[in-house]
Amino acid sequence: MTDPVTPQAVLGPLTEAAIFLVVTVDDGGEDVARNLLADVSGLTRAVGFRSVEDNLTCIAGIGAGAWPRLVGGDPPSELHPFQEIAGRKHTAVTTPGDLMFHIRARRMDLCFELATLIAGRLAGAVTVVDEVPGFRYFDQRDLLGFVDGTENPTGAAAAAAVLSDEPGFEGGSYVVVQKYLHDMDAWNALPVEEQERVIGRRKLSDIELSDAEQPSNSHVALTTITDDDGEELEILRDNMPFGRPGAGEFGTYFIGYAAHPDVIEQMLVNMFVGRPPGNYDRILDFSVAVTGALFYVPTVEFLEGLADPPSPTPATDGSLNVGSLKRSDD
Ligand code: HEM
Repeated sequence: MTDPVTPQAVLGPLTEAAIFLVVTVDDGGEDVARNLLADVSGLTRAVGFRSVEDNLTCIAGIGAGAWPRLVGGDPPSELHPFQEIAGRKHTAVTTPGDLMFHIRARRMDLCFELATLIAGRLAGAVTVVDEVPGFRYFDQRDLLGFVDGTENPTGAAAAAAVLSDEPGFEGGSYVVVQKYLHDMDAWNALPVEEQERVIGRRKLSDIELSDAEQPSNSHVALTTITDDDGEELEILRDNMPFGRPGAGEFGTYFIGYAAHPDVIEQMLVNMFVGRPPGNYDRILDFSVAVTGALFYVPTVEFLEGLADPPSPTPATDGSLNVGSLKRSDD
């Protein structure tokens, strides 16, 4: 019988607030990073218990480049660096990232407190690549004004879509994050009916356009994909709006979880290259991807196990090779 596993809170509910933090681990920062990963569920419990009803969760992901430095051994078989996807007009860029933290709660102060503790523990050991505070915008709308998240799978379908069954990595997931910036002037210049043809759903009611009305280059058309048997392939998204109106910045932080990253990558190929090639997602004429990274999301037990020191290299100076401890008989 295999040991029971506890997935991180990938299936957790959509929330009013989130912080997305992506960092690279500096040379020599590996032990600090590993110990923080092992403690992250404890820190989340400590902050979250101050207001249990506000549902604080934190999901930590590890990038392909960091795996040998932080974990060692064989990585999950589908973990790889995020590859750039270049279409004729638009490109899904790839940007650095060793660790990703997806912190969410019904209140931003809980997210902020946990992010502060995580950043404090990692100070001096990592370089922050990107940090984005996201907020709920009215009834789950993105800043383009459309309801975002409607077709997310729920219940058993959600678990099947996001939890890996790879031997040794059962209960883990993969996650892709991309930060998009919107050209709101160009978007707002479009009549609402045209915006609806870009997304593929009605703006006010959130009802999907009929097959006859649905353009082949709408966002919904190009992100609906099926396997060889015609079964729909699903991912779990928890996009959040973010922005700084004074700086003219309006964005969507895309975050998608899946049991197999190639499902998300196929959607991205459809969006950026097009299906067929050239028939790309019109949402990209109003949204630029400025970051892109892929991570593996281990189980809670796996993260907690990282606290164990890596197998010791033989010491030649009589020390125990553990921090600054020396043998007492020295
Ligand atoms: C659907 C917005 C990027 C995958 C939707 C919907 C909206 C939306 C409004 C319709 C409602 C819903 O079902 O959620 C956005 C925005 C993005 C973005 C503003 C960034 C600018 C992406 C990316 C992917 C993706 C990068 C995948 C790689 C999907 C999927 C659906 C969807 C799978 C559901 C399609 C269906 O089954 O009807 N998105 N999205 N989205 N989006 Fe996105």
